[in-house]
Parts: sequence; C-alpha cells; structure tokens
Amino acid sequence: MLVPTTIKTLIDEQLPTDMRAFLHSAGECAESNGFRLFLVGGMVRDLLLGRPSRDPDLLVQGTDLTMNGASDLADLLASALGGEVTSRSQFGTAKLNVNGFDTDLITARQETYSLPGALPDVTPATIEEDMARRDFTLNTLAADLSSGSFGDLIDLQNGGDDLEQGTLRILHDRSFQDDPTRLLRAARYETRLGLHMAPDTEAAARRDAEYLGGISGDRIRHELERIFDEPQPELALGRAEDMMFFSYLLSTLEWGPELTRAAQSLRESGYETSPMLFLALLALPLMRDNPEALMTRLNAPVSWAAVIRDTYALRVTLPSLSVENIQPSTVYVKLAGLAPEAILAWSALAPYRSVRGLLLSFQMKWRDVKTHLDGDDLMSLGIPQGPEIGVVLQELLNARLDDVIFTREEEESFVRNRISSNEHT
Ligand code: CTP
Repeated sequence: MLVPTTIKTLIDEQLPTDMRAFLHSAGECAESNGFRLFLVGGMVRDLLLGRPSRDPDLLVQGTDLTMNGASDLADLLASALGGEVTSRSQFGTAKLNVNGFDTDLITARQETYSLPGALPDVTPATIEEDMARRDFTLNTLAADLSSGSFGDLIDLQNGGDDLEQGTLRILHDRSFQDDPTRLLRAARYETRLGLHMAPDTEAAARRDAEYLGGISGDRIRHELERIFDEPQPELALGRAEDMMFFSYLLSTLEWGPELTRAAQSLRESGYETSPMLFLALLALPLMRDNPEALMTRLNAPVSWAAVIRDTYALRVTLPSLSVENIQPSTVYVKLAGLAPEAILAWSALAPYRSVRGLLLSFQMKWRDVKTHLDGDDLMSLGIPQGPEIGVVLQELLNARLDDVIFTREEEESFVRNRISSNEHT
C-alpha cells in the first residue's frame, strides 16, 4: 500500500453518501466562519487501510485559539445542517448528531502532564501541536476538509510510512510514561490492525509497563472495555500478557494461553462471546481474596463486580456439581442468579467434562425453563394464598427441569394430586 497525498477518492469510494455530504458541508461551513477543520484519527487511518470505520473525529482550529473552537463550530454546524449538539466538555470537545450519526469535534490542543499517568493539563493549540501530543504516528494522519483542498492528507509525523510498513510507533520516548493507557491501546492496535511495534517503541513499552500501576481504575476499565469490544479480544489480551502489562495492573492478574483457547473454542462452537465474557475469563483464575482486589483495582461498577464475584463463586461451587446422576433441578438451584458470562467461561474451563456439560445445559436450556402455571393459577386450583404458593411453584419447576412433567395439563394434575395427597395426610 502506498499512502496517497489525498484521501478524497477514498472518502468518495468508501464512505456512505450522507457521511460524505456531511464532511463537505462541515468543511465549507467551518471555512466560511474562519475555522480550520480536519478529519483526524481512526477514520483517516481506517480509510487508508480500507477498513470499515466508525463515526468521524473532527479537529477544529479556531482563529483566536480558545478552547471553545469545537463547541462554537458545533453550534454553527447544528444550525446550518439541521443537527443537534448533544454534549460539550471543558476540555474543548463537543458531540454533534446530524442525520443520526455522531461526530466528535475536538478543539486543537496541547497537553502537558504534571505527573506520569495524571490527566493532562490542556491548552488551545494549532493542528501541528495537536498532532504532536498524540499516541502513535498512524493516529496523527489528518485530512483537510476545506473546499479548495478537501481530502488533502496532512502527515506531520511520518504516519503514512509507518502505516505502509505496518509499524506502530510512539512520537517520543516518554509517551507511555505520560499516558500509560497507551500501553493497552498499543496491544489493541497491534492485534486489531496486524501491526508490530517499532523496536524502540516496544522497548519503551516494556520499560514503562510499571507505570500502569499508577493509573486510576476508571481509566484501566475504559481501556479494557475497548479491548473487550474488539472482534477477538483474546488477541489483545494475549499480547498484553506477553508484555507483562497485567502483572503491573494487579500482581495476581494474568491472561494465560488456556484463556485464549477457551474464548476461541466458545466462539467456534457458536456461543456468544460478549464483552463481559472476557472479564469473566480474566477473573477465572483468581483465588480467595483476589476477586475483591480486582474489583477495587478496577473501581468496578455493579455490573462488573457481579461478573467478577460470580466467576469466583462458581469456582467454589464447581466441586458440588461433580456428583454422579445429579438432577437438573439441583444444578439449577446452585447456578440460578449467577452471571451468564461466569457460567459460560467455566463451561470451557471447568476440570471435568461432566461439569462443563452441566454448565452448558444450564446456560442453554435450564436457565430459561418456566412453569406454565403462575401463582394465580395455583390459587384457582385451590392452593391457599401465602408461602405455600412459592413452595408449589418451586416443586413444579423442579419437576419440569427433571423432565417429570412437561405440559400445562400435567402441571395442573401435579397440583391436584398434591392437594389430594395432603388432604389424606
Ligand atoms: N489519543 C491519544 N492518547 C490516548 C487516547 C487517544 O493520543 N490515550 C488520540 C489518538 O490520536 C486517537 C485520538 O486521540 O486517534 C482519538 O482517540 P480514540 O477515540 O480512542 O481513537 P479512535 O481513533 O476514535 O478509535 P480507534 O483508534 O480505537 O479506532
């Protein structure tokens, strides 16, 4: 692949008509109001790679270099193109929705870091300065959107050469120290785009991996979330393990090859490998107090904490499933209420084949079994209102799970028999 000097043709060939029209109109509107506007980041990179890209990121440089550039231009675009500004931040960003797609506008800025891993101090800047604060050279490629030079590629950091050669390269030696989340981003880009870190970049990544220890749980979680959203998260997780990133995040954390194999075999067998399945797999090897430590390290919200906790709870429960001729209703009682991702993760990795089978049967079949009759039906059949209703519903469910009864009529006769046998005792 030879990187062209303009991506106008790629925009025309690869983007849907409404997105293309939006980029042209946005460029014209910006120009006539004294702004410089550029398409930046992932979309430029992905257009050059011929990969589908997500919503566009637009970089705004105002005439008077204030942090309001993006917000002011977003207002102008919203009224000119009939869209809506859906959010703005004090860091000079705004989100615009036009024709149903979201565009991020970013005021060109410089970033300085008071401490490694701290959030940056942000000041307005030129596009050249903005490009110099970014993570990797291939993310610094920008396309001019002004009408006279629409699509012209601006490559201030040799991103084009690196893209051509499949090289992921930081812009300066302290990049990972400034922002250690870039380490996890590197693992994600390498595996998603089939890149390799430049030798100097990889050496810096290994040297600076320890800085991961200093970043907040929320920031780690955000990067993990983005990895979990990848088509094959196990590749980025495996690469992060090769680079020892996990042990710096939390000493007990690791992503072994068996976890990669488990994810792949679940996917190949047609099970849904949802993002949270990868959290369950990451938590699966943890013992005793370690799940709590992981929740604390990630500042885990309720949904993450539930997956981590349930994955550990299952580790404790598994031996009790390893019983000959165990009834489905017994399995159900032990597993009901646990996060599906925890069950699916263990279904690939539990020590005994029989236990793995039970976990899958619960997940795919028994979890969804419902009785035909409900509490009202039981009352009309003669069960008095009160705790007995719950007891009988549970008995019905057990009988359904254990294939003792199947139909509504059989449930009704089960209840009638129960009432008459109680009357005789
Ligand atoms: N960026 C950075 N350092 C970070 C995060 C982001 O320099 N820690 C810069 C990168 O230049 C990136 C841009 O901010 O291109 C936007 O970041 P993000 O939204 O995460 O990337 P996208 O390009 O939108 O998405 P992706 O690369 O994942 O496809």
